[in-house]
Amino acid sequence: MATPTKTPPPPVSPVLDSQLLLAIESSCDETAAAVIRRDLTVLSNVVASQDELHERFGGVVPEIASRAHVRCILPVIDEALRKANATLNDLSAIAVVTQPGLVGSLLVGLTAAKTLALATGLPLIAVNHIEAHLYACRMMAGRDIFPAVGLVVSGGHTNLYDCHGPTDFEWLGATIDDAAGEAFDKVAHILGLPYPGGPAIEQTARAGNPKAFKFPRVFLKEDRLEFSFSGLKTAVLYKATGVPGAREPVPELTPSRIADLAASFQDAVLDVLVGKCRQALCRKGRTRLLVGGGVAANSRFRERLEAMCRSNKTELFIAPREMCTDNAAMAAIAWEHFEQGHIASLDLDVTPGLVRQPKPSSFLPTKS
Ligand code: KG4
Ligand code: ZN
Repeated sequence: MATPTKTPPPPVSPVLDSQLLLAIESSCDETAAAVIRRDLTVLSNVVASQDELHERFGGVVPEIASRAHVRCILPVIDEALRKANATLNDLSAIAVVTQPGLVGSLLVGLTAAKTLALATGLPLIAVNHIEAHLYACRMMAGRDIFPAVGLVVSGGHTNLYDCHGPTDFEWLGATIDDAAGEAFDKVAHILGLPYPGGPAIEQTARAGNPKAFKFPRVFLKEDRLEFSFSGLKTAVLYKATGVPGAREPVPELTPSRIADLAASFQDAVLDVLVGKCRQALCRKGRTRLLVGGGVAANSRFRERLEAMCRSNKTELFIAPREMCTDNAAMAAIAWEHFEQGHIASLDLDVTPGLVRQPKPSSFLPTKS
């Protein structure tokens, strides 16, 4: 019997390649817009951060976030178009992140996107924020990276997926309480470090001893793809301020004790994250790992992942640092949906909660 030959895919036409998409992201506390060509070249990537507004609360205040999005959304879109040297007339589609996230924040981006789609007649494409975080790895690679195990580790999520394709994920597990980034933010608050806590802890930990305190690595030795960081956070709190009701005096929180606490906390989180990635790769028999989300910007985490993947003969794709934290360029995944004809209707709504068992059809409304 003749061996079937595989027909190579047709070359992408240069005309299609140069089509432009405007992407809008406002799921949490960053107002962002980007213009991306169909060949995934990012022409502009504008992010207005709200860190200063939330810093004194040690975390994101949803009402403050949505009000700030209202103020920033149009100037940010304008700037993204200007930096890309484009106008609305040059666009082929409008993409917007509609899930998961803070309801008020998501609604601001969606309203802007719908208004532009209605005014221009351009197709509207809904994007899932989690998918977009992992798609940042695909953009960096410049080639197909699926199938793979994917870890999204951010302020709101610590989720593991078996990624069959860019828009086809199988849920493997997640945190049962705090997200890893949330633990970084809360521990930074306990230690008197600024918000967001991740970069502050990373910086402070450089001067500390990661073995100074023995913190829990919850579920690490168990064969389950779940995480828990709230006990770890409490363990740091007790070392920093003492156990309630205990008689022993609490040592003063000197800069060197803060550095040791930060370093020991960071290593406890990273041990678990890296260990669970290894378990997931082994369970699914995958040889590629994708990592995205704000915590993936952490240098020690990146080194630890590289070492694990080297010894596991696994290809590692981590989002570039500037695309780890929230941005609109990663919403370039909308081009994948565009090609599959996933165009949303104007009655599209936001889905604030995380869909645990996402299927391509449940991510997006069907073509209207
Ligand atoms: O992806 P992201 O911008 O927003 C969410 O979707 O949640 O992630 C923000 C989170 C924050 O919790 C922040 O503390 C954490 O990412 N983060 C880091 C680092 N940079 C940001 N965590 C650890 N190390 C870092 N260098
Ligand atoms: Zn995010």
